[in-house]
Amino acid sequence: MAAAGTAKLLSRPQQFPQCAPNRISLNPRPHSLSFSRRRPSLAKPLRLRAALSEPTTAVSSTPPPSAAFRHCFTRGEDGYLYCEGLKVEDVMESMEERRPFYLYSKAQITRNFEAYEKALAGLPSPIVGYAIKANNNFKVLQHLRSLGSGAVLVSGNELRLALRAGFDPKKCIFNGNGKLLADLVLAAKEGVFVNIDSEFDLENIVNAARIAGKKVSVLLRINPDVDPQVHPYVATGNKNSKFGIRNEKLQWFLDAVKAHPNELKLVGAHCHLGSTITKVDIFKDAAALMVNFIDQIRDQGFEIDYLNIGGGLGIDYYHTGAVLPTPMDLIDTVRELVVSRDLTLIIEPGRGHFMGVDEMPQE
Ligand SMILES: Cc1ncc(COP(=O)(O)O)c(C=O)c1O
Repeated sequence: MAAAGTAKLLSRPQQFPQCAPNRISLNPRPHSLSFSRRRPSLAKPLRLRAALSEPTTAVSSTPPPSAAFRHCFTRGEDGYLYCEGLKVEDVMESMEERRPFYLYSKAQITRNFEAYEKALAGLPSPIVGYAIKANNNFKVLQHLRSLGSGAVLVSGNELRLALRAGFDPKKCIFNGNGKLLADLVLAAKEGVFVNIDSEFDLENIVNAARIAGKKVSVLLRINPDVDPQVHPYVATGNKNSKFGIRNEKLQWFLDAVKAHPNELKLVGAHCHLGSTITKVDIFKDAAALMVNFIDQIRDQGFEIDYLNIGGGLGIDYYHTGAVLPTPMDLIDTVRELVVSRDLTLIIEPGRGHFMGVDEMPQE
């Protein structure tokens, strides 16, 4: 059945640009968001804060001399690190009392989200659900929501955060193998999509629907058993994964859904193979298996519309200049399959929104 490549271990530690981590401030310049927290002191516990701030010193906006760059952080010929033309050193000075801090590029996040939108153009009502676990900073969430993004959630806190940030519940998917009953009740009341992850999870969702007095739109998270060729710790779509249902148990789940017509409405199938995937063929293999499952499900009279192919597009962690697949490459590999079954595609990018996965022209 599935493509069975051998797992390739990524043994090197993850390395990010040397921007100092962590209190939150919205840089008044349009293209960057900086987030910081108070300098840790031995006497006081570290306290995360969110605030709007004005830099206290002028920030140079001289663009870096090296013209072409694929992502927001780049090394200028002067040896300094730049973010969208802002000298990071200047930003650091302006944040004097609030270091360390996180600095993200609002423009980069926008480009990355828009790259998915562009790739999905022509497909009927696709959902780009941002996997909040990648970065749950409230400013980031509000920004993505303003762009039209949905949200992918794995805890009650993420669900409440997404609702507070104003995400449309019809573009939210509640995932995970540890969903609590109280959180599922909230999801049911708000009309969020819920992924069934296990027998136990299904029982909880049924109970939540009864408590909320609302039918829940559910997707089955099926393990297609495709090797994502990533570090085993982030490989989740294989047979023995602790997430999702084993594909040979599909019939049991379909019968259980049929047995609860007042509580559950099956609307789709979901898979998430893993993270940091660098070969789009892997998504194609998985999508081919998933549409077969969808055919089987439809054959039993279920009217399901959604295929959720999860997240996982890799990023250039090591700044090697590696040419990685873009959202367009990813969507192109599954487009035909999606169209052939008249499906609505859901995609769940996470970490990629913060790095250079876009394919938009860099000015
Ligand atoms: C179900 C699910 N969807 C989406 C993602 C986002 O993955 P990535 O950050 O690799 O795009 C994850 C990450 O763990 C996940 O578990």
